[in-house]
Amino acid sequence: MATETATLRATERQYHSTSSPYVLPNDQSSSAVEQDRLDAQAAAIVEMIGGSPFLAPLLSMTGISKAVDMGCGTGVATIQMAKIFPSAKVYGIDLSPVPEAAQKLAPANTIWARGNILDADDSQYTDNALNREIFTPGGLDYLFGRMLFLGINDWAWYFTTASKSLRSGGIIEHQDLDWKFYRVGTSECLSDDWEWHRAVVAGAEHAGLSTCAGSGATRFMQDAGLEILSVRSFEFSFVPSSKTPNSQAMGRYVQAKLMPNYPELLRKMLGAKGIGVDELERLTNDCLRDLSSEPGVHQKYTVTIARKP
Ligand SMILES: C[S@@+](CC[C@H](N)C(=O)[O-])C[C@H]1O[C@@H](n2cnc3c(N)ncnc32)[C@H](O)[C@@H]1O
Repeated sequence: MATETATLRATERQYHSTSSPYVLPNDQSSSAVEQDRLDAQAAAIVEMIGGSPFLAPLLSMTGISKAVDMGCGTGVATIQMAKIFPSAKVYGIDLSPVPEAAQKLAPANTIWARGNILDADDSQYTDNALNREIFTPGGLDYLFGRMLFLGINDWAWYFTTASKSLRSGGIIEHQDLDWKFYRVGTSECLSDDWEWHRAVVAGAEHAGLSTCAGSGATRFMQDAGLEILSVRSFEFSFVPSSKTPNSQAMGRYVQAKLMPNYPELLRKMLGAKGIGVDELERLTNDCLRDLSSEPGVHQKYTVTIARKP
């Protein structure tokens, strides 16, 4: 499948057409390349964080009637959640349609919703059926969001909306990435010296994206009135290393399926900053070299769990 990813030309890819800043493809009808990538990423994340997709103690949570997977992608985590909570309504919401194969596999208590999370605004509760149903104030028992750093450009708003939607005692689990790169087993930052990385960070900021959607969540959650229960950090490896065994599958996935997306990702993020073609090619080559050469080079992946008081 890696070669399939590599040979899919930029012009063959498909993208959502909403106002969300999310720049990665969704490839629904012409191929399943992006769906395959997201499923491989989900499996690598599960291995990286210890074997379970959720670190909140879901099995000990009782009386769960409504849960949501924000930006559910292929619905892989939504289905896992729906199996854990068979008596609850479990919603998967995304900009793009969930693949038909996943819809067929999903238990009957799964409900798919297509929409932009950023539209889940109080003022729209009355005329937006989706929001009225999912984000009713105090209605959610569990809210899960994973790898949304490219899609959410207002985290203060996101966590405030999440907090309002949770019932008292409800749990939120947020799993996300920061943009800096570090040496294996350390917090020695490598990317501060990389010119291409500085340009990408400037592009992200230009698009209103946070470069610390993982480690920065704690503050936004606290500001939204949520009580932090736990914060754990993991190494999201770009190259496998024997020093971090749980992140080896991640390193293999990144090299095979994520890196082929980087030239187009950089083109979108740097193009918006007015960087010309030759400069873009040079920065892209530097990026591909830096993210493929050193075993264990990684971004920090943070899992934050909080409770609505
Ligand atoms: C990197 S994927 C992660 C998918 C899934 N959470 C997982 O971990 O398997 C990000 C997903 O979030 C969705 N997304 C991004 N911004 C969104 C938004 N504003 N509203 C709804 N979905 C969004 C994208 O369409 C994409 O499917």
